[in-house]
Amino acid sequence: MKIIGGPASQLLASRTARALGTEPVLSEFNRFPDGELYLRIADEIENEKVTLIQSTPTDSDFVALLQLIDACEEAAEINVVIPYMGYARQDKKFKPGEPISARAIARCINADRVFTINIHERSVLEHFPCPARNLDAANLMGTYIASFGLENPMLVAPDEGARVLVKNVASGYGFDHDHLQKTRLSGDTVVIKTKNLDVTGRHVVLVDDMIATGGTMAESIRMLKAQGAIDVHLACVHPVLTRNAALRLFNAGVKDIIATDTLEKAQSKLSVAPLVAEALSGNSTLS
Ligand code: R5P
Repeated sequence: MKIIGGPASQLLASRTARALGTEPVLSEFNRFPDGELYLRIADEIENEKVTLIQSTPTDSDFVALLQLIDACEEAAEINVVIPYMGYARQDKKFKPGEPISARAIARCINADRVFTINIHERSVLEHFPCPARNLDAANLMGTYIASFGLENPMLVAPDEGARVLVKNVASGYGFDHDHLQKTRLSGDTVVIKTKNLDVTGRHVVLVDDMIATGGTMAESIRMLKAQGAIDVHLACVHPVLTRNAALRLFNAGVKDIIATDTLEKAQSKLSVAPLVAEALSGNSTLS
C-alpha cells in the first residue's frame, strides 16, 4: 500500500508509513500565479492500494484532499484518512437557512474507506458516501498523560461533549475524572459554570477533543486554579489553536499543552501514527 500525505499531514503520513514499514510517496504542493492550488504526486498510481492522509483545517486543505483523490483515480483502492476534519462542528442546522457543512464536505469524498480521528460528532460519519470509521486516540492520550508521573491527577472535561473522551482517557490508568458545564456565548467567549470539584492540592489535566480559540480552556483553567488546583495541564486531540489561543492559555496560567499530530503544531507531541497504522493494517479496535 502506498501512503501519500497531503500538505497538512506530512509528518503524520511519514510516521504512519514508517510504522507500516514503508516510505511515504513524495508529492509537490504549489500555487499557480492566480492563487489556485497545484499538486502533483511524484509517482505513478495505477492498480494499487493507496492511503491518502490529509487533515482539512482550512478550505485550501480540503481542496488539496479533493485533488489528491482525483490524482489517484486509477488506484485499485483509495483509503482516505482525515485526521482532523474541518467543518465537523457544523453538523446540524443551528439556525434556519444554514447548511450542514459537515455533510457538504463528507459528500465530496469519493473513496473506498474513510477514517477520521476523534471526529467532533460521530453522526457526520453517516454522510460519507463510503464506509467511514472513527479512530479513538483516548488510550494513547491516557498513556502519554501517565508518562508525566503526576501524583494522583484529576482529569476534567470542560463540557458535557467531552465527557466520554475524558472517561476513556482516564479509564486505562484508573484516573479520577469529572466534567464542567459550559455555555457558549459567541465563537470565542464561553461561560464555565462554577462547579465545586475537589481539586485542592491536585494536578488537573483538562481534556477536550480540540482547542480552537482557547476560550473554553482559558475559562476552565481560571476556575480550577481558583479552586485550588496545584497546576493545570491541557490535553487535546486536535490543536487547532487559532489566532492567539496559545497566549490566552498561558495568560490563564496553563502549565503545559499537549496535543496529537492530527494537526502539526509545536504542541503536537503525541503521534497518532500507531493508531492509523493499526487501522490500515486491519487490526484496529475501531470505535
Ligand atoms: C466544543 O464542543 C469542542 O469540544 C471544544 O470544546 C471547542 O471547540 C473549543 O473551542 P474553543 O477553544 O474556541 O473554546
